[in-house]
Amino acid sequence: MHLTFTLHGQPYHYYQAGQTGPILLMVHGFPLSHLQWQPQIDYFQKQCRVVVPDLRGLGKSNSGTDPNLTISMEDHADDLIALLDHLQITEPVILMGLSMGGYIAWQMLRKYASRIKSLVMCHTRVIADTPEQSQARIKLAAETCQKQTAQLVEDVMFPRILPPHAPASLVELLRKMSRTTTPEGLAANLRGIASRQASDDLLPKINMPALVISGEFDAISSPQEMGDWARKMANHRFIAIPGVSHLSPLEAPDLFNRHLEEALPWLTGPKNC
Ligand code: MLT
Repeated sequence: MHLTFTLHGQPYHYYQAGQTGPILLMVHGFPLSHLQWQPQIDYFQKQCRVVVPDLRGLGKSNSGTDPNLTISMEDHADDLIALLDHLQITEPVILMGLSMGGYIAWQMLRKYASRIKSLVMCHTRVIADTPEQSQARIKLAAETCQKQTAQLVEDVMFPRILPPHAPASLVELLRKMSRTTTPEGLAANLRGIASRQASDDLLPKINMPALVISGEFDAISSPQEMGDWARKMANHRFIAIPGVSHLSPLEAPDLFNRHLEEALPWLTGPKNC
């Protein structure tokens, strides 16, 4: 079911399905929306209650018209807690984040660890941007607002996140997501990603189950890099999905779902952090 509630004076859009089982909160990447998780929504709603937001400024969750807005990873973490509170969900959730969704998950852990039962970290990083990467994103944000188009973001991001020779249907789906978003929302999120802090200090303190999923050909978060930080968490499982790039939930949905389903009893077990 597609739903909205008002947050910061704007509609915050989310999808919810499933009545029973653990709560699976799925947090998408940039410049995407809840549609990035469609194969997981379809599959897991039979065994979980799935809650899948469009993050503020992305998809159908509007962030207003301020061309200089920054939406930080911490702002998104606060929004997700507001969403759980709105839904009266007090039980700790399984928090699944992909890429930017993972950057947000680190902030959720920092501020709201008691609301999280376990983690599924997909294609994500613990380090901050280099100064060059950060400056490039800030420049892209300004140009996106000035030219009032998603095209510039697509030109930069799609080659980084799509697999080589991506099927036309996947490119179209990504375009659908970025074009539902306003240029101001894209820019505000670019600034937020650019200003994020490193989160590696958290790793030795994380004792809850953490499933870490990487892709063999991921150019943003390589399996080597992800394996190195995954091993710093006491209770982790690490998977490198062969043949995929940055978007395994869409590129290899059956395999992704199988790995997640196999891990569900462990992720759902008693909270042990
Ligand atoms: C994402 O998929 O969320 C982005 O690739 C994150 C990034 O560019 O660092």
